[in-house]
Parts: sequence; structure tokens; C-alpha cells
Amino acid sequence: MHQKNKTLGEFIIENQSAFKYTSGELSRLINSIRLAAKVVNHEVNKAGLVDIIGDAGDQNIQGENQQKLDVYANLKFIQTLTNRNIVCGIASEEEDSFISINSQDENHQNKYIVLIDPLDGSTNIDVNVSVGTIFSIYRRVTPIGTPVTIEDFLQQGNQQVAAGYVIYGTSTMLVYTTGCGVNGFTLNPAIGSFYLSHPNMEFPADGKIYSVNEGNYIHFPLGIKNYIKYCQMEEDDRPYTSRYIGSLVSDFHRNMIKGGIYMYPKSSKMGNGKLRLLYECNPMAFLAEQANGKASDGFTRIMDIQPTELHERVPFICGSRNMVEKAEEFMRKYS
Ligand code: AHG
Ligand code: MN
Ligand code: MN
Repeated sequence: MHQKNKTLGEFIIENQSAFKYTSGELSRLINSIRLAAKVVNHEVNKAGLVDIIGDAGDQNIQGENQQKLDVYANLKFIQTLTNRNIVCGIASEEEDSFISINSQDENHQNKYIVLIDPLDGSTNIDVNVSVGTIFSIYRRVTPIGTPVTIEDFLQQGNQQVAAGYVIYGTSTMLVYTTGCGVNGFTLNPAIGSFYLSHPNMEFPADGKIYSVNEGNYIHFPLGIKNYIKYCQMEEDDRPYTSRYIGSLVSDFHRNMIKGGIYMYPKSSKMGNGKLRLLYECNPMAFLAEQANGKASDGFTRIMDIQPTELHERVPFICGSRNMVEKAEEFMRKYS
């Protein structure tokens, strides 16, 4: 069969044996994410036509204004994962604390927990610029059949079983890994199926794009400032091109295809940067490493950081391996 004719459903079945644990539960979980992605995609595409853009009038626990689509996407992902009785716990950017599923039922055997950023890049919704969804999947560490605890969610990224994102862009894609490389599937909206369009995605080892919010430049650590100057220098294959969408998913996706580096460093305004370790940085780091790239906080591998809080933030440098290593070199030199 020609690769582009392979649907996500077929791919999941074919590759089920490659999963670490082969009960079929993880396959069902990816399947339900696929379903929620289609539902959210449908709604995202209506933005502007119906009353879905704009502020929902509330703030999440991190003091950010929730957009209507943030709230909608959060609800749809949680509903899908809950209705199908697939996971035992969910944590979301839009929920203050984690949700325990079926905690009353001693017989429930679900072993996976999911962390999600239901809508990433939400400031871009109102202006018709690509947004995304990010997800991260772990096996619980507490005994099956008991209510999940915070311990199940505060695992190091290196324990992830699967991770991925959906990008609602010029076309809608689902890109994910179960630890055997990264594969990308494009939605055919006429049929409603995802097709394997980007098998074995990999970051080029080098790139020519740097993505950072330079509006924060004066607040950045010296290492980052000097690395940015290095990117702009007229030397060898530089200057690099600056591209910043402001949706992590979209910036990451472009950099993975073209070669590049994404940075959300700490700053004197935001001590740990902005991005959240558990449902933004860890899943993207898992994808990056599976795609031959690299993710670091400037000094340490993202996936080796021990989380202490559900919504904690961490400086994030991610992308083409040689570029990330160069940025780390600057961080070490000027720290
Ligand atoms: P979210 O919409 O889930 O809160 O995430 C937004 C994140 C990320 O997607 C993006 O790269 C970054 O925030 C942009 O932040 P700045 O506007 O500060 O550059
Ligand atoms: Mn986000
Ligand atoms: Mn979000």
C-alpha cells in the first residue's frame, strides 16, 4: 500500500506490537485523542463564523484569560477521554488540579494518565493563525484500581509512554511518538480521516531559523542575548532567519521540518520562563529527541527534570541538535 493511503487507524493497529505495553489500551487512548482532535478541529475552523472567538471571561489558575476555544477544547478532550473510560487521570493547563477518573470504582483497570494543553497558542485564535493541542501520556505509578494521586502526574519526562500534538494549521495534522520515532498524519477534511503523510519525521541536525520572542530581549540572561547576536552575525552560514509564530506547536512543527531552534528562556520578568514543564515542554522534548533533535533548559535535559508542581514553568530551548548545543555552550560560558 502506498504510504499516503495509510490511515492513522491502520497505522495504530499495525504498530501496536511496537508499543512498550501491548494491551491495546494505549492504542485506544491515541484513538480517542484522534477523535477529540477532529471535534476541536471542526470548532477551530468555525472561528469567526460563530460566537467562539474571544474571551470566555474567566482566568485559569495561572492568571491567564481563558479564551472560549480554550474552554471548549479542554472540555472536549476531557469528555472524550472520560466517556471512553480509557484513562485513570487527566491534568490540563485549564484545570487547577488533576482529575481522577473512576476513583470510586475499585475494579477499574485503567493504567494511563494524560496531561494536556488543550489549546496552545490561544492568543492566535482571534487572528486566524495556527494553534494546537499538546498531549503527554504516562503509566500511573500508584496501584491500579486506586484513585490517582499527584505522584502519578509528577513524573520525569523520560517516563513518558507517548506524546504528541495536533496542529490546526493550513491543514490539520496529528504528530505523535510512542518512543519509536515520530510520525505525522494529515486530516483529509472531506473524509474525516487522518492519513500518514510524514513518516519518520526528523529535525535536520543544523538549521537556519531561530524562534524567540525578542520583545523580551533586555530581560534575557546574557547567554541567550549573546546566542541571539551569534544567530544574527554575518559569518559562515549566518545570519539565521528569525521566525516566531507565538504558538509553540506551530514554531516547533516548522523547525522540525526546516531545521531550527525554539527558545523561551527565563527572564528577569519570568524567573522560569513561561512554558509549562508537564504539558508543554516534556511532550515536545520527547518528540524532539525521538526526531533526532534536542531539548534543554540551557543546562539540563528537559526530560530529566524532576517536577514538583503540576503547573510549573521551565526555560525551554528545543530543536535541531547542533543549534541547541550551541545555545547551551553560550549559556555555560556566560552564566
Ligand atoms: P498557551 O496558549 O497554551 O497559553 O501557550 C502559549 C505559549 C506558547 O504556545 C507560545 O510559544 C508562547 O506561549 C508565546 O508566548 P509569548 O507571547 O510570551 O511570546
Ligand atoms: Mn501552550
Ligand atoms: Mn493552552
